[in-house]
Amino acid sequence: MNNIEASLSIKSTIFFLMILVFTRPIISKDFLQCMATRYSTTIVYTRDSTLYPSVFQKSQQNPRWLNSSLAFKPLYIVTPSQEPEIGAAILCSREHGFQVRVRSGGHDYEGLSYLSRTPFVLIDLIHLRMITFNTEDQTAWVQCGATLGELYYNIAQRNNTYGFPAGVCPTVGVGGHISGGGFGTLTRKYGLAADHVVDARLVDANGQVLDRKLMGEEVFWAIRGGGGASFGVITAWKIKLVLVPVTVTVFTVHKSLEQGANKLIDKWQWIAYKLPEDLFIRVIVQNIGGNYGVKKTIQASFNSMFLGNIQSLIPLMKHSFPELELEEKDCKEMSWIEAVLYFAGHPSDTPKEVLLDRDHQLYKSYFKAKSDFINQPIPEIAFQQAWERHLQVNEAYMVMEPLGGIMSRIPETQIAFPHRGGNLYNIQYIVKWKVNEAEEAKRHIHWMRMLYKFMSPYVSNSPRTAYFNYRDLDLGINGIHGTTSYVEAGDWGTKYFKNNFERLAKAKRSIDPSNFFRDEQSIPPFG
Ligand code: FDA
Repeated sequence: MNNIEASLSIKSTIFFLMILVFTRPIISKDFLQCMATRYSTTIVYTRDSTLYPSVFQKSQQNPRWLNSSLAFKPLYIVTPSQEPEIGAAILCSREHGFQVRVRSGGHDYEGLSYLSRTPFVLIDLIHLRMITFNTEDQTAWVQCGATLGELYYNIAQRNNTYGFPAGVCPTVGVGGHISGGGFGTLTRKYGLAADHVVDARLVDANGQVLDRKLMGEEVFWAIRGGGGASFGVITAWKIKLVLVPVTVTVFTVHKSLEQGANKLIDKWQWIAYKLPEDLFIRVIVQNIGGNYGVKKTIQASFNSMFLGNIQSLIPLMKHSFPELELEEKDCKEMSWIEAVLYFAGHPSDTPKEVLLDRDHQLYKSYFKAKSDFINQPIPEIAFQQAWERHLQVNEAYMVMEPLGGIMSRIPETQIAFPHRGGNLYNIQYIVKWKVNEAEEAKRHIHWMRMLYKFMSPYVSNSPRTAYFNYRDLDLGINGIHGTTSYVEAGDWGTKYFKNNFERLAKAKRSIDPSNFFRDEQSIPPFG
């Protein structure tokens, strides 16, 4: 961490008083004065600031929230470059009765990192993005405002035999992603991003900066999978990198219903979680066609990364999944970082620097998503009926990501993320729409709820589980003033965290007994 601190303290000496003061009601002035007193070199954007709209919108990934009423938007946006600024923002917010929301990459599916029904201050970590490597033990300190793309790019710039097991979308922020778990193409081999965190820095409700030792093992356990927003502002993670081969192989095989997609999906769900852990095959099912006289149908894409070369992959596929009829010509060898670009949807000649573009439009859309974990194969007939529903809307996906591998060997209590052994795969349901209108949103969200209801007999139950990073407020919410009890929150809490929910609530009580850090799905203090 010393490198980060050294560089930041240089920055602090060259900053001057940069508070943008535009008077609002008296209380606003007080907040700005409080910030100036506690920390003289901070930047605060008020609602009157000309830059407020662009700073506010910059990191929003689901623009469906853009038209939200002003009442839900922050009173102030603080964009700290140093940890003490965050401490000041927390203390001043507390003094003035405001809540805080923390934003790293802004991908929260329900906008919880930047919208609230109660007056609040947004702490946006966009300027906390430094990544420093220690080549001796292959660890790195990554500040939470960095994106996965920035992390992957920087790893690959140093070494082509190391990688990091996290999500496939480069614009996702490490702050929210790692604190909620984080899975992707290396998960069967190495587990989640959160499984590779060895230390962290967090600013608590008293404005104190805590590392692993100071926050204690229970809080350190909680912020790995339990979400960061209930516990404080995480400023940086210390992560351990993992080994990747110089050559990996990728393929994507598309099959429509007419080409036997359903039979292949059925076979996939029996074998994908049992395959050698060097092989990750996910299935993306989507509706295609419907325009220019092309018949609407369902297509399944078998999208894979193998940690090895084509020569080793082909016999493995012939043995385990001959029905897919994978051939050499379907496969491509490349480096791990090229595979990152491939999975992010970029053509093969795209410069790696695209990973540094945190505003890339490719991933921004109006959508609603939900998730399930599957612990026994779903009958083919149920898939058939689910696809009939998919044909009723324009753009809908089911992304099925296999578990198994090391995920079955890591105990459910190792970190707060519990969905390990016993699960075959995860499903993410996504529906997208093109026009940001309330009626469009309502219609698609209704469709999604119907699909979710339809799937209930076929997925995990008691409780029906969900992945915290695929946030879904339909599962239940806290009272807006944070009055929800531990027992009430258990309704949705056990869906995300199973039996780890109680331990999370106890960790919450130990670090934030007054429940300062709260939102619609934050963990209330135990008792
Ligand atoms: P954002 O900044 O919105 O934060 C999300 C939540 O974490 C909020 O509650 C926020 O307050 C809190 N938080 C953020 N930073 C914090 C900090 N520093 N300290 C404390 N709390 C903090 N997931 C996955 O596992 N694999 C994948 O491949 C993908 N792919 C993907 C693609 C796209 C296009 C989207 C929109 C999302 C994904 N995700 C994903 C889901 C993603 O992991 C999830 O939305 C993360 O919470 C996003 O983290 P951000 O920091 O970007 O979000």
